[in-house]
Amino acid sequence: MNVPVWVNGQLIPSEQATVSVFDHGLLVGDGVFETVKFVKGAPFALTRHLDRLRVSAERMGLPEPDVDAIAEGVRACLAEAPPWPLGRIRVTYTSGPGPLGSDRGPEGGTAIVIVAEQSPFPATADVTVVPWPRNERGVLAGVKTTSYGDNAMALFYAKARGGGEAIFGNVAGNLCEGTGSNVFVVRDGRLVTPTLASGCLAGVTRALTLEWCGGSEEDVPLSALYEAEEAFLTSTTRDIQPIRAVDQTVLPAAPGPITAKAMQIFAERSAADIDP
Ligand SMILES: Cc1ncc(COP(=O)(O)O)c(C=O)c1O
Repeated sequence: MNVPVWVNGQLIPSEQATVSVFDHGLLVGDGVFETVKFVKGAPFALTRHLDRLRVSAERMGLPEPDVDAIAEGVRACLAEAPPWPLGRIRVTYTSGPGPLGSDRGPEGGTAIVIVAEQSPFPATADVTVVPWPRNERGVLAGVKTTSYGDNAMALFYAKARGGGEAIFGNVAGNLCEGTGSNVFVVRDGRLVTPTLASGCLAGVTRALTLEWCGGSEEDVPLSALYEAEEAFLTSTTRDIQPIRAVDQTVLPAAPGPITAKAMQIFAERSAADIDP
């Protein structure tokens, strides 16, 4: 079932919702976005996601998005959604219509909210390391931009090889992140995730995992993923998903004891507070 979508302040039947073919979100990927999960009709960590949307827009020099209006849009869409047990909210904010080159147009941004049902992810993930690095020094490093061609291509590469997620190293040769997830490894019994300087996104789930379960931010070589005692992915739609195998290397346990504990803590804490 399609729920009405919200476009620039208006709730519109999804089949009738349109944006300009000149929108730079479409023409040049000049925009930012968020994926927020909702559980039984309530968005999880919406405040953190809207804060990150604002930061992403600022990093790209976009006009400040009206996050209060967008939060209203989220509420309006959710009010129309069926009682799905789990769903995802996609917020997109672009620089709006513009000329055919990369210069921005004068009309202002386009804001869109779409909600849909979400199936739970598999209990474990097999991941595929891709041959292209994340550029931790690139202008879009760590920005949740709609310029996601790198991620689309990497996920396509991983899926063609039987992987459920692709993993990037960075230019320095260190572990970075997935196409839609952050990565944690257990080394010498300690939980470790790459620093934000690795070029990874400041994942909301990554931050909550560090706050609730402990662990440290450290840059480790990409090889550390293959040698991990345990490893897991974090993302809004996965929460914590144990990694079973990295390319052809099967990890010792999925979930291992530290991952299982983190999953339990995350489930308890997120159930207790919908907007942590
Ligand atoms: C590139 C990238 N890294 C990490 C994540 C995980 O972030 P979050 O936990 O906020 O969903 C995402 C989310 O989609 C992502 O696109």
